[in-house]
Amino acid sequence: MAIRNIRELGDEVLEAVCRPVTKMTPHTLELIGDMFDTMYEANGVGLAAPQVGVLRRICVIDVTGEDPYVLINPEIIMTSGEQTGYEGCLSVPNKTGTVTRPNYVKVKALNKDMEEYILEGTELLARAICHEVDHLDGVMYTTKVEGDLKDMRTMEDED
Ligand code: NI
Repeated sequence: MAIRNIRELGDEVLEAVCRPVTKMTPHTLELIGDMFDTMYEANGVGLAAPQVGVLRRICVIDVTGEDPYVLINPEIIMTSGEQTGYEGCLSVPNKTGTVTRPNYVKVKALNKDMEEYILEGTELLARAICHEVDHLDGVMYTTKVEGDLKDMRTMEDED
């Protein structure tokens, strides 16, 4: 497994619509392993394949550091409630912005064995699921920010 280069805002690969995964291959398994390594190394809670330059519908999420999920061909099938809070993205380093998301999300996806499963999440997990699924459709959170994108380093100085 290896750390991959994370593409940054402005790279057109981040605005493309990703293709579904039709079968698991050793190549795709290696990609998934690399995505986890890359996410953990960057201290992120989620990463989508286009962020490492691969236009496939795959994302990885781990909001606690001990609860890893791979979502292949994910489909959000139910949402409820609302949460408004700061969001960030490994492709937009040192920035954060306020985004409103559902407070509860139910998603259907395939695991690495291409078996369907259901994942339900609230709060940060719900936010991460929405954020990562958006990436697969070429949607960056920066298009959903309410107000200005803020620099996290200057925010710390203000406190
Ligand atoms: Ni992101």
